Amino acid sequence: MTDFATRVEGISISGIREVFEAAGEDAINLGLGQPDFPTPEHARSAAVEAIQSGKADAYTSNKGTESLREAISHAYDRDHGIDVDPGNVIATSGGSEALHLAIEAHVDPGQEVIFPDPGFVSYDALTRLADGVPTPVPLREDLTLDPATVEDAITEDTAAFVVNSPANPTGAVQSEADIREFARIADEHDVLCISDEVYEHIVFEGEHHSPIEYAESDNVVVVGACSKTYSMTGWRLGWVTGSNRRVERMLRVHQYMQACASAPAQYAAEAALTGPREPVEEMVSAFEERRDVVLDGLEDAGLEVPTPSGAFYVMPKVPEGWVDELIDSGVVAVPGDAFGANGAGYARLSYATGMDELKEALEIIDDVTARVR
Ligand SMILES: Cc1ncc(COP(=O)(O)O)c(C=O)c1O
Repeated sequence: MTDFATRVEGISISGIREVFEAAGEDAINLGLGQPDFPTPEHARSAAVEAIQSGKADAYTSNKGTESLREAISHAYDRDHGIDVDPGNVIATSGGSEALHLAIEAHVDPGQEVIFPDPGFVSYDALTRLADGVPTPVPLREDLTLDPATVEDAITEDTAAFVVNSPANPTGAVQSEADIREFARIADEHDVLCISDEVYEHIVFEGEHHSPIEYAESDNVVVVGACSKTYSMTGWRLGWVTGSNRRVERMLRVHQYMQACASAPAQYAAEAALTGPREPVEEMVSAFEERRDVVLDGLEDAGLEVPTPSGAFYVMPKVPEGWVDELIDSGVVAVPGDAFGANGAGYARLSYATGMDELKEALEIIDDVTARVR
């Protein structure tokens, strides 16, 4: 009899979906992990043009079109002064596929992958799909990841550790000093650092830094995407970059899994990356304004909440039963333990929602917090 593979029986559908299903139709949804802005017009038009001219009809090269990979390389130089060879970029079906490639190409069965807890749900699941051993590590009080915690968790069986700055679900941005430490750890312990930078442009205080800027070895691969920066979650376009030998291994997985990223999305991404920056700047300042309003509202409600410096999430400490009561009162939030055991006692709120709705939600939060003590 054909049974199911153990690796698939070991994972389940994310707890986030269960929350959405529990919510009423008119609920204010602070659970979403995607910007509430339109994809920039120039990106949409580039896809339409590519479709209508027939340019998008065929497979592209496995790594993606030359012009998209050049645009990605140029963006790293323009935005962060990082030198990326377009030949060492694979365009993927979102950051999700890029994470999958990085883990699949570097993790042998039984090897450990260290990642933040609470952290983005895919790190645990993708490790299990590669028959690896998920090794979640706790965060500091301010919800950043302490490099010393990562270093202490490294064993002979560690294949990789994941750094995610700015982070989902915390909104935390790692300091430059931490990022330098992650690079040193990757070098000295000879383990791979998978740097998930899909929120790289959504930073309010300080600057985004990547371990790839500082590593002396090739032990860093970087995952990026158009999804959050250009509000293109539906287009499914991301990328992974690293040294040539690593990219060539990841390409083997990508070639058989995906062949190439969607061609229309590649043309849209190229236009997004090379086009005017105003849509990104406007979105980031809207997020910052909302962050401030949400922080004030949560603090006024009496909740303890670390200040997030990026992405569009905030993670207050909440009393037992708070999330259920909030959902019953018409506001969706995600319980912190959906992102790992150490997320218990927290909730993730996304402020990728218009200001009026946010203010309404904050009033409800105030009531709920007063009730659930
Ligand atoms: C930290 C993090 N990495 C990767 C992804 C995947 O992004 P994409 O939609 O590009 O697959 C997400 C999406 O929520 C995320 O939050």
